[in-house]
Amino acid sequence: VPPADEPEDILDQVEARIRAVASTAPPPIDAVAGHLITAGGKRVRPRVVLYAGTVGGERIGDVVSLAAAAELIHNASLLHDDVIDEAPLRRGRPASRVIWGNARSVLAGDHLMACALELLEDAGVPGALRSMLATMRRLVEAEVVQLAHRGAILPDVSVYERVIRGKTAALFSWCAHAGARAGGADDVVCQALAEYGEELGVAFQLLDDVLDLDGSPEELGKSLFADIAQGVATLPVVLATQGRPELARKILAHVGSGDPIEPLIEEVWRGVRETGADVETRRLAALHVERARSALGALGGSPARQSLDEFAVIMLERRM
Ligand code: FPP
Ligand code: MG
Repeated sequence: VPPADEPEDILDQVEARIRAVASTAPPPIDAVAGHLITAGGKRVRPRVVLYAGTVGGERIGDVVSLAAAAELIHNASLLHDDVIDEAPLRRGRPASRVIWGNARSVLAGDHLMACALELLEDAGVPGALRSMLATMRRLVEAEVVQLAHRGAILPDVSVYERVIRGKTAALFSWCAHAGARAGGADDVVCQALAEYGEELGVAFQLLDDVLDLDGSPEELGKSLFADIAQGVATLPVVLATQGRPELARKILAHVGSGDPIEPLIEEVWRGVRETGADVETRRLAALHVERARSALGALGGSPARQSLDEFAVIMLERRM
């Protein structure tokens, strides 16, 4: 059966599905989950699923469930991440943990995660649940590596890359691969889409890490310099500290010191600008977008390929 609707129309169904899932949590966890879900995320991951889902030209299983599951896993990980990072803001609202506390935030994340896995079990797309379980392991492993470095030792570039591939690229890759499966694409095309998603995810996180330094808090809906405040060194900071051991030492020494953060932020920001580390990180994001686009070479020319290609290019310009 050919897909009947355009991805943008199906997105409304995805939205309804994820809101319904949040509302099935036992009170007051329904409010905790709803607070994040209704705060207006970009829905980037469902879009990747839906665009990839048009590649094969068929419909195997329920693509709405796949797209909803991806967004739910992402939201679950954010609820948990904001506890780990002690984040004050998310999507322009106080983080759930600020309003309801850590325990309820964690439980709301657990609820969304369980529901996402149920959706995948029922979606009828072969391998989608199994591959999501492997993806979740990658997310957890990356968070563990990031945590081990926090405030203790600066990651080198290869550790940083391992972290962002695990915490962000893994889920993007799942979205593109599982979407392609739901569209009935063959193994070669599904593999190409997995590569597309992985590279897109790396670019997405590189931009996230630059925007944490030079973005607009209003557009981003979260505070800037959150990574530095938490002792998490992202690529722009790692690059800026190369050849500046004093800066590296100050970043690590700040965690748990109780000292005001402003002088450190000023110094890190100056280091980033003077060394061109922000420009270099954006250049790398562009490089990974090009790799994502190259992976689409396996698809031949089609409207589906065109949408995925344009999506990758537009992502590079994001400010939120
Ligand atoms: C945001 O990163 C966090 C992630 C992309 C992943 C977080 C993953 C976990 C907490 C593991 C739990 C896993 C599951 C499956 C629920 P960030 O802190 O760099 O971005 P931010 O600035 O938006 O917070
Ligand atoms: Mg965080």
